[in-house]
Amino acid sequence: MTSSASAQRVPVVHGLFDGATWTVTYVVHSGPGSACAIIDSVLDYDPKSGRTRTTSADKVVDYVAANDLKVAWILETHAHADHLSAAPYLKKRLGGQVAIGHQIARVQQVFKGLFNLEPDFRPDGSQFDRLLADGEEFKVGALVGKVMAVPGHTPACVAYQFGDAVFVGDTLFMPDVGTARCDFPGGDARALYASIRKLLSLPAQTRLFMCHDYPPNDRPVAFETSVAAQRADNIHVHDGVTEAQYVDMRTRRDATLEMPVLILPAVQVNIRAGEMPPKESNGTAYLKIPINAL
Ligand SMILES: [Fe+2]
Repeated sequence: MTSSASAQRVPVVHGLFDGATWTVTYVVHSGPGSACAIIDSVLDYDPKSGRTRTTSADKVVDYVAANDLKVAWILETHAHADHLSAAPYLKKRLGGQVAIGHQIARVQQVFKGLFNLEPDFRPDGSQFDRLLADGEEFKVGALVGKVMAVPGHTPACVAYQFGDAVFVGDTLFMPDVGTARCDFPGGDARALYASIRKLLSLPAQTRLFMCHDYPPNDRPVAFETSVAAQRADNIHVHDGVTEAQYVDMRTRRDATLEMPVLILPAVQVNIRAGEMPPKESNGTAYLKIPINAL
C-alpha cells in the first residue's frame, strides 16, 4: 500500500461541537499543510435579537490556520433546520467551493412556496458553487470524497465518505440517541430506513461521524462511532429492526416533537447557501415568519 493510499484510508478528522445547536462541524484533511474540506459549519444566531456572530466559525478558521490547511470545499450534508450555515463567511475568509446534494432544488421549491420568496429566487440550486449527485467523487488534495445520497430526514440529504470515515449528516445519531426525525417537508421515514441500511452495509470498522449529539443523562458529548457499534446498539435501528417497525416508531415519535427553535430562520438562510435574503430599501435584510403555515 502506498502512503497516499493509506492517507486516503485514514483521513484526519477534527470535530468542533457547537453547544448552542448541538451541531458538529468537521474539518477533514490529510495532515498539516494539506487541502481540507469543512463539513456543516455553524453561524451563531440569536433569535431574540436577530444578531449573528462568528464565534463558532472562527474556531474553524483558527484550526485551518494552525494546521496550514487549504480549504478546497465547504460542504453541507443538507439544508439544516437547527442552525444557520457559516459557508459564505468561511468562503470569504478561507476560500473553497460551497457544495450540497443536488436534490436541494426540491427543498428550495417547497420552501420558496412556504416563505413566498422573491420571484428572483431560483429553486435550482444555483446559489451553491457545486451540486453533488449520488456516487459522485471530488478531490480534497490527496483525499477523494464520495457522495452518498441518504434521503429521509430531507429529500436532499447526503453523506460524505473519505476513506474509512463517513460523515452521516442527519441520518444516524449516536447509538444511545437513535436517528433523525422525518417529519419536515419532504421527509420520509421509509426512505431514511433504506438510507441507514445503506450506511450500515459499509465495513464494520468504518468510522461514522455524527452531525449532532444530544447526550442523554450525564454522558459526555460524543460524535464518532462505527458501523459495528450502530448495528449492535442503535436504539432505533440496530440489526433486527424491520422497516415496518422503524417507520412505526419514527412516525409516532415525530408526532411528539416540537419544531426546532431555529427552523424558520435556518431554512430561509440555508436554502440560499447561507446567504441572508436580499436587503430591503433601508439596507437591512429581514427573515420571514409564516403564520400557521408550517
Ligand atoms: Fe437536519
